[in-house]
Amino acid sequence: MKYKIEKNTVQETLIIPLYARKMCSELFPDLYRDETSARLIDKIDYDFTKVAQKSESFMQKFGFLEVGVRQNDLAFEVRDYLKTHPNASVVNLGCGLDNTGRHCDNGICKIYNLDFPDVIAVRNELLPAGEREKNIPCDLNNTEWFEKIDASDGAVFFASGVFYYFRYEQVKSLVYAMAKAFPSCRLVFDSAGKTAVSMIAKTWIKQAKIKDVNAFFYVSDAEKELSDRDNNINVSSKGYMLGYTDLKDESVSAFFRLLAKFGDNVIIIF
Ligand SMILES: C[S@@+](CC[C@H](N)C(=O)[O-])C[C@H]1O[C@@H](n2cnc3c(N)ncnc32)[C@H](O)[C@@H]1O
Repeated sequence: MKYKIEKNTVQETLIIPLYARKMCSELFPDLYRDETSARLIDKIDYDFTKVAQKSESFMQKFGFLEVGVRQNDLAFEVRDYLKTHPNASVVNLGCGLDNTGRHCDNGICKIYNLDFPDVIAVRNELLPAGEREKNIPCDLNNTEWFEKIDASDGAVFFASGVFYYFRYEQVKSLVYAMAKAFPSCRLVFDSAGKTAVSMIAKTWIKQAKIKDVNAFFYVSDAEKELSDRDNNINVSSKGYMLGYTDLKDESVSAFFRLLAKFGDNVIIIF
């Protein structure tokens, strides 16, 4: 039996990082490894040919690397938070079929995976919640989901490739509401500048032939734009590609490292 992801909805965008994680694991195994993605791709009723057609291209390979590095960056922040809050909740916002929560499991934390109901229905079949784990169907922009998170021992939230599909005001009001509901917790997400976000819409989404979906949210200086001392929101940002790693691995060419440096300095922030 194969499971279907609804076409031309924001939910369909989960295919892009899922495929990229599989490719990144194959191309850069010493930097990133995710066995789950390859296993799940075979179980989804989706025509991967359009995504696969471009996978030989140089820039697409760099894109696969970006997705793997992003997942490592997020996992670093989650594990770092768990060092001081071992019983905390690890909350994957807009989880798609990503298993980072479980990859960071320290054996005692709580894990939550949140996405739209149709995605969670597929997730429940393919990645059923394990011990100390819950898959929660919701719209992230409706804060009713807050009540379902046990943050009594702290919580670290992460959103991987999700906020691009939100309007600026939606991200801001969600972040403010979270700061109020979950004081002293940590939220980690990837974001990019205007040029990079329009590239995401023109390349990744268009190539996958996903219609009716656009990428909106961008920031040029996350610390300046999103920090708010009055509301207890302290923001720090690091380079998307080189903020957590030097990418010094023989599988990564010197040119890719240069591109990563250019990207971090010019268009991409994390
Ligand atoms: C590009 S995918 C990323 C999936 C996953 N984070 C990953 O890295 O594989 C974006 C995900 O965000 C989810 N999403 C977008 N807007 C959402 C919302 N308002 N509420 C819940 N989920 C949302 C989509 O359904 C989709 O699964």
